[in-house]
Amino acid sequence: MKLLVKNISSLMGIHPAGTARLQGEAMNAVPCLENAWLLVEDERIKDFGSMDNCHAEADEVIDAGGGVVIPAFCDSHTHLIWAGDRSGEFIDKIKGLSYEEIAANGGGILNSSDRLNAATEDELYTAALRRLRQVMAMGTGAIEIKTGYGLTLEGELKMMRVIKRLKRDVPQVEIRATFLGAHAVGREFAGRQGEYVDHVISDMLPAVKDDADFVDVFCDKGFFTVEETDRIIKAGEKYGIRAKIHANELDFSGGVQIGVADNALSVDHLERIGREEIALLSQSDTIATMLPGASFFLGMPYAPAKEAIKGGCAVALASDYNPGSSPSGSMPFVMSLACIKMKLLPEQALNAVTINGAAAMGLSDDFGSITPGKYASFVIFKPYAPSLPYIIHAYTEPTISKVILKGVEVS
Ligand code: NIG
Ligand code: FE
Repeated sequence: MKLLVKNISSLMGIHPAGTARLQGEAMNAVPCLENAWLLVEDERIKDFGSMDNCHAEADEVIDAGGGVVIPAFCDSHTHLIWAGDRSGEFIDKIKGLSYEEIAANGGGILNSSDRLNAATEDELYTAALRRLRQVMAMGTGAIEIKTGYGLTLEGELKMMRVIKRLKRDVPQVEIRATFLGAHAVGREFAGRQGEYVDHVISDMLPAVKDDADFVDVFCDKGFFTVEETDRIIKAGEKYGIRAKIHANELDFSGGVQIGVADNALSVDHLERIGREEIALLSQSDTIATMLPGASFFLGMPYAPAKEAIKGGCAVALASDYNPGSSPSGSMPFVMSLACIKMKLLPEQALNAVTINGAAAMGLSDDFGSITPGKYASFVIFKPYAPSLPYIIHAYTEPTISKVILKGVEVS
């Protein structure tokens, strides 16, 4: 089955095969072909070229009518599975309570954990599937999903089973599973944090090891220490599971340092980092993943994305889609926040949500760019939105015309 997309005003993100990730200044440019066609064969990108020279034959043709095409978004940090909602805490926030104060009042992650443990697997699956379909319609083609609202062995396993079912039932989107047992200390272990960490390492990790692609720890003030994080990362390593760490959201936690020392694939959040962390990251294989949606929703400072790029880091941007700190999985909005609030240039933002997002899930060989051989996962924009700056600045306009994931249009 061949699909031809013709009359593309700008085919963006045509990175050469083998581009694993973009670091520092390399993030400043997006390779494009103007006035282009794109040929898909089955699930993969076959070829592309200029409309001046279009001889490709196909079973089906889409006329982009002068719309822009970009690679599908690669959202490398989400907590997509949860029960109920936390709109009550939203009111607390409006009244001025901080994220930490809400957590101390029994809200926050433990609130979601109570609800998740009370919900059935089917209820969780149905809600997660609805969210997954929503983000696919907004252009997400690859997504990382964390556990971390169970905080009991059974709850964490239940979340892992839901991720497995989503992987099986929705193969059109690529899913990676991250075990986040150390998101907070489970209620049963209140006041016994050390024992909870032992439980994560000795009981939970062995139970999820075959289904977890990554392991994560919330290494921050009031959550898990650098030493605990190090133990959990090393325990994951024994099973060949690489780490992605929540670091430096609430404080200069040392999370970046331990993530880099333990060769984490990414350290995420980074609202509180300075020159030292940027220098360390720039010399490492660890990706700096930033989550502007959480800063927007919680009213926190934004992570210094511009400085990190200037300093030579590989910066990825993700949605952090979750009920408490970022109740939006919209990657177009993430790009808009990156430009409006973090002052990234549109090209830097696009690279951060595509090729570098793919890298932050270990998916660069198959996703993140318009490259022959990779999955045919891309977004076609409406002709009236003729450029990347237009798409990003018009942050509430429904500029997406079609989303194609693995060669098939998302309905
Ligand atoms: O990435 N920071 C820790 N975890 C999530 C928030 C989870 C929650 O509040 O439910 C985050 O922002
Ligand atoms: Fe998160």
